[in-house]
Amino acid sequence: MTAAAKADETSGEVRGQQVQELERRLQQSQLGGGAERIDRQHASGKMTARERVDLLLDPGSWVEIDALVTHRCTDFGMDEQRVAGDGVVCGHGRVDQRPVYVFAQDFTVFGGSLSETNARKICKVMDLAVENGAPVVGLNDSGGARIQEGVASLGGYADIFLRNTLSSGVVPQISAIMGPCAGGAVYSPAITDFVLMVEGTSYMFVTGPDVIKTVTHEDVSMEELGGAMTHARKSGVAHFTASDDADCLALIRELLGYLPGNNLDDPPLRATDDPDDREAPELDELVPVDPNKPYDILDLIRAVVDDGRFLEVHRNFAQNIVVGFAHMGGRSVGIVANQPNYLAGVLDIDAAVKGGRFVRFCDAFNIPLVTFEDVPGFLPGVRQEHGGIIRNGAKLLYAFAEATVPKITVITRKAYGGAYCVMASKHLRTDVNLAFPTAEIAVMGPGGAVNILYRQQIRKADDPEALRERLTAEYREKFSNPYVAAERGFVDAVIAPRTTRGEIVRALRQLAGKRSGVPAKKHGSVPL
Ligand code: HXC
Repeated sequence: MTAAAKADETSGEVRGQQVQELERRLQQSQLGGGAERIDRQHASGKMTARERVDLLLDPGSWVEIDALVTHRCTDFGMDEQRVAGDGVVCGHGRVDQRPVYVFAQDFTVFGGSLSETNARKICKVMDLAVENGAPVVGLNDSGGARIQEGVASLGGYADIFLRNTLSSGVVPQISAIMGPCAGGAVYSPAITDFVLMVEGTSYMFVTGPDVIKTVTHEDVSMEELGGAMTHARKSGVAHFTASDDADCLALIRELLGYLPGNNLDDPPLRATDDPDDREAPELDELVPVDPNKPYDILDLIRAVVDDGRFLEVHRNFAQNIVVGFAHMGGRSVGIVANQPNYLAGVLDIDAAVKGGRFVRFCDAFNIPLVTFEDVPGFLPGVRQEHGGIIRNGAKLLYAFAEATVPKITVITRKAYGGAYCVMASKHLRTDVNLAFPTAEIAVMGPGGAVNILYRQQIRKADDPEALRERLTAEYREKFSNPYVAAERGFVDAVIAPRTTRGEIVRALRQLAGKRSGVPAKKHGSVPL
């Protein structure tokens, strides 16, 4: 063999070894914590990180980053246990052809716990998302800070929190909780825009049942303390629940369809065959003649949006207000609506916080706001007052006032008192204010008003009930209608309910080029 042939053979061997080494490392990273732990993950009803990423993204679109990263910890025998990827799968891909950045914690590697290097990977993906103007989706399934790494791991969390905060309002951030999420780790999802939780396999809490038992002597299960339904119904931490991993990932795909990639883009248009000016005759009968009779505002929403498709956010929390996304005339809109079917649609602390957060999200991401108003006022009561209905109610008011996206309000029935002002009234720079003929716009309802204005006369009357009835009718005729507001231009038009869709779609088109702002400032001081 010539010297040249020998050199070729040697270099061929070297190349072969190099390829083998790469394949070995990539295979190791694909396997995560190994077959046994993967089986355990499946047995507990969960998919692996990679299976989740595959299901989330358009087929073939996944590009993994940092698959070969390992931790640097040498304590507690950790130098013997290095797994390529180090417990988090990071990269980017597409959802409905649009780019999205993803990290998925791999519970099979040290319980998906967060190490210094693992945090760096997550931060890299978050930085790339902001630089490239695309949403970040985090699939969380982790035992929290990696115990072996101490402060290096805690610092990693803080690095992520900082990025969550700086990215807020720049790119949409979505957190799926698909396993444990405990301790300070909960604060990353908490800062993001939407939290989804999988029923039965996920939980979130700052301190778990054992610590609670020691400190407050309360007995509580993990599920009751921080399961999906607890956070969806009681705390409001979870915006959505899903029946399993696949359902959760499908929900994320659906949600992304309403959102722009970033704050400088408009949300994507969605083609529809639903005619812009489609009338909905059933709406003429929707609002009952009896002002105290409830009806379901969801019937109105579904009747006016494209193809009846409405993605309700926070469906189980503060049900007296409904918020969610739809398309109208192909455009993405954020809908905020009082729900007469639940507590008569009254505004309370939770409703105000729910509505305020949603309005601010839509405003940050150029999603026009459509408000349906039927509100008897703020909920009276000592619990509400002492709980801070003033401070919390102000959040919703602030959010509507601050919002510069196109704003359209339809008053279907009651618009009483402060709640009239708060619910995207003309005075808060709402662009188009419409009212049904059934609208009642007044400082308060007729019953309360007559009692205050005519208490003496009614008490002294020969027939107090007859007088009360007459005065109530007079009041209703004078104030409980949309025409006083329309005469002042606080309501732009009184419309036939059946034409609501056409009116809103036309307004959205008219407002498509809206330019509006707020005075130059560092940021406002929202009443947190
Ligand atoms: C290192 C961890 C880990 C952690 C789990 N593991 N949590 N390794 N650091 N934080 C490892 C386990 O050793 C185990 O390794 C594997 O992950 C799976 O864990 P199991 O306990 O076998 O699983 P399971 O029974 O399902 O219980 C899951 C769990 C439990 C409930 C999450 O592991 C647990 O309580 N972990 C600690 C949770 C915690 O207190 N974290 C700190 C939170 S405070 P092997 O090799 O056996 O597979 C926090 C602060 C954040 O995170 C601060 C931000 C400011």
